[in-house]
Amino acid sequence: MNNIVTTDRLTKQYKSFIAVNNVSLHIRKGSIYGFLGPNGAGKSTTMKMLLGLTAPTSGSFTIDAKQFPADRIAILKEIGSFIESPSFYANLTGRENLDIIRRILGLPGNAVDDALELVGLSEFGDRLAKKYSLGMKQRLGLAGALLGRPPILILDEPTNGLDPSGIHEIRNLIKSLPHLYDCTVLISSHMLSEIELMADDIGILNHGRLLFEGSLDDLRLHALASGFAADNLEDMFLSMIEKDNLNKKQRARL
Ligand SMILES: Nc1ncnc2c1ncn2[C@@H]1O[C@H](COP(=O)(O)OP(=O)(O)OP(=O)(O)O)[C@@H](O)[C@H]1O
Ligand SMILES: [Mg+2]
Repeated sequence: MNNIVTTDRLTKQYKSFIAVNNVSLHIRKGSIYGFLGPNGAGKSTTMKMLLGLTAPTSGSFTIDAKQFPADRIAILKEIGSFIESPSFYANLTGRENLDIIRRILGLPGNAVDDALELVGLSEFGDRLAKKYSLGMKQRLGLAGALLGRPPILILDEPTNGLDPSGIHEIRNLIKSLPHLYDCTVLISSHMLSEIELMADDIGILNHGRLLFEGSLDDLRLHALASGFAADNLEDMFLSMIEKDNLNKKQRARL
């Protein structure tokens, strides 16, 4: 299989607390990979390590044949990212904010309009970022990630705070990206029901450990084998997490 991102036993420890525990991910080129887990599971921490924003305690990763840590800078050039709530210059317009990123990346002037159009913000490009609604800020963050049309997109809960029609729209946009410009998407969420409509593959994280990795079809088979309805994967996901939480408590008592 042609994996564009692989992590090898990636681990992040804060003092005695292990936020990411020996996580080995396999992300296929051109796929949308849904990274799922409840609050505090370690999704953002894993993504931050891939982006060089926090250093792994142990383990390593490879992105597009470039190995961390030796090829750190080259890796960054491959990735467009949206991590948690992106911040902007409040007193600049959406367009001006994107223009700053565009200049840093050395892209042509029309890249900003393209990105605004892609996320449905063309109409509001000249409004100050501080006057954007939450959903508009999310879209601006996504536009920033897409600016350089990077081969890999890392999106940390990009639909957070969007209304249902906004979620639908952004989901369709993300779904179209691999075909639109041949990229690979790693996207995190709390909800399987949201991710299953766009992802090809799924990784489920809980307490820093990877509980499941595979295609959506694998997950449906896994659901059936575990006695869950394959058309309601959310129930199985929640029960998988509950079971793991119970195991963790039992381990702690021993
Ligand atoms: N700088 C830090 N120092 C100590 N602990 C941290 C630090 N950053 C994150 N953590 C802890 O690591 C764990 C994983 O956090 P992380 O933000 O990766 O979770 P997440 O899966 O993204 O959760 P959410 O869905 O709430 O965004 C949490 O328990 C968090 O408190
Ligand atoms: Mg997070």
